[in-house]
Parts: sequence; structure tokens; C-alpha cells
Amino acid sequence: MDHSTSVIGAQDRPAVDPTLDLEAEIAELKRKRHAVILAHYYQDEEIQDLADYVGDSLGLSQRAAETDADVIAFCGVHFMAETAKILNPEKTVLLPDVDAGCSLADRCPPDGFAEWLKGYPDHVVVSYINTTASIKALSDIICTSSNAVRVVESIPEDKKIVFAPDRHLARWVEKNTGRQLVKWPGFCVVHEQFAARKLVELKAATPEAELIAHPECEDSVLCLADYIGSTTGLVSHVEHSPKKSFIVATEMGVMHQMQRVRPDATLIGAPPSSGCQCATCPYMRLNTLEKLYVALRDLSPEVTLDEDVRVAALKPVERMLALG
Ligand code: 13P
Ligand code: SF4
Repeated sequence: MDHSTSVIGAQDRPAVDPTLDLEAEIAELKRKRHAVILAHYYQDEEIQDLADYVGDSLGLSQRAAETDADVIAFCGVHFMAETAKILNPEKTVLLPDVDAGCSLADRCPPDGFAEWLKGYPDHVVVSYINTTASIKALSDIICTSSNAVRVVESIPEDKKIVFAPDRHLARWVEKNTGRQLVKWPGFCVVHEQFAARKLVELKAATPEAELIAHPECEDSVLCLADYIGSTTGLVSHVEHSPKKSFIVATEMGVMHQMQRVRPDATLIGAPPSSGCQCATCPYMRLNTLEKLYVALRDLSPEVTLDEDVRVAALKPVERMLALG
């Protein structure tokens, strides 16, 4: 467990009156608290619909850096809210469910990472934003799925690079940059579920559809894809593509915005290799409208950070933001 960051208010909270009009209550609390609601595409549709901004990790951190709100209600997972706190130490950052983690961030512990880095003393450390503040504090620069290639290309050719924690994103960056990366062996539990074999069958059954995929998918899946990008990249691709049908290999929440920008499009969720036929992130889906209401009402759970860790983590985040 990483003790540099915590969430205050992680106690049982009172049940919410079922007769409340939660949308109206949240709008009123937002005004009263001078709050902004930032949401990731993997949130429930009802949360996306009342958010001030819905975006990918990069867009969300850019919005968090710009906002003049006093309170940021972050409807996403812990590393995203924590990044908002790194950028806004004076603001109250709320995370509706304290357990909204991420398999990538959770499986890259700071002690193990620091020990691992000792084996690569002369390397530039590039960390994916899906990491805790303590990992960011040990990094030279942060990247997201939308700028990982640009971030690696910004590093002089003669420098060696370690990349953590997503091994699939790292491999995709290697392919796109021609650089060799030392990889931490992390993976996303949602994106690793997509299986190339099933996608080959689905593509054969729907030859008119484009396969679009997030770079957290395995290489065997990415090799089949017609387009690869961050969640914002995927939404934008659907918006501008002349095609009418898409197989979507990422968390299915993203389809809400795809359908909004392309109501005529047919969207087919890529099937996970086993279990139910929809890919949802168990962490992202912990947030609910009810928990968002309680968070704004009680100003809790709040994300807090050890100040030394925050200051150390800020530098690599700012380096990323400076790249645009
Ligand atoms: P994006 O930055 O592409 O939205 O990805 C975030 C994430 O957690 C994907 O699983
Ligand atoms: Fe983390 Fe994967 Fe969920 Fe994204 S989809 S938040 S990478 S577990």
C-alpha cells in the first residue's frame, strides 16, 4: 500500500433519500461549491451526461490544470484524481468512490519500482499516467496513451529509456518510434481480455466494420486494428471516419460519446475472451451518481497527498503538459 497518498472520508456513508432528483441536487451543489465535474469516458452514461468535461487522461489533466473551480469532482479512477491534486494542491479534489483504483497503477508499487530502477541507472524514466504519485515522483516524464509516442520521440536518440507500467503500450510505442524500451511488466485487466482469435471471427462476420483499439490491448489485437488511439482518439476517429460500422476494442463506456457524435454508426463492442460479452472497467464503474452527490454534499472522500511526493511528481507531469 502506498502511504504517500490517501483518501479522507473512506468511511461508510449514509444512504441517500431515493426520492431525491440527483441530477438537480448535483447541479445545485456544484453551483454552491463552485465545483467542476470532470469525467472519463468509462464512466456510466448518466455521469458523463452531467459532467462539465468528458475526456481521456490527457484532456482531463489539461482541464484540471486550467480550472478556476474551488472543488474538482473527479469521476474517474484514483490516479486521475491524484494527478488533478498534483496540479492543484490548494483545491479540494473529490473521488466519488475511494476504491476506484487501476490494475496498472496498483501493480506497480513504489518500493519495487525504485528497486527495479536501480538496474537502469543511466536511463530516462517514462511513466504512464496510470501510476501513483509516488511512481510519478521517481519518473523523468509522464505520458498518456495519446502522447506516449511524442513523449518518447522528445527524448534524445542516444538516451536509453525505461517505460512503466504498461507492457502493451510500451510495445506499441516501440513499433511507432523505432526505439527500444525497457518495460515494466504491467497490464490492464480490461484490455488484456480482448482475444485476437475472437476478433478475427468477428471481422470475418462483419467485413464492413473497422476495428478500432486502445493501445493497452495486446499486440496480437493491435495487429488486427484499422486504427489505434487513446479514448479521445477513438471517439474522434469514429466522428470523422466515412465508415458506418466499428468494432470497438476498449471499455464500452466510450461508446456513449461515439454514438453521440455519430448517431448513424453501428458500434460493436469487441468481445472479451471469456465471461460476459461487454468489457467494463470494474474500478471506473464503482463511481455512481449517488456517490457523486454524496461527495459534493460532504466534500468527501477527498484525495490528499504528501507534499514532498506531490512536488516531486509535479515536475514530470508538467514536462508532459509542456509538450502539449
Ligand atoms: P485514455 O487516456 O486513453 O483515456 O486511457 C485511460 C485508461 O485508463 C485506459 O484504460
Ligand atoms: Fe486501469 Fe484498465 Fe480500468 Fe483503464 S480500463 S482504469 S487501465 S484497469
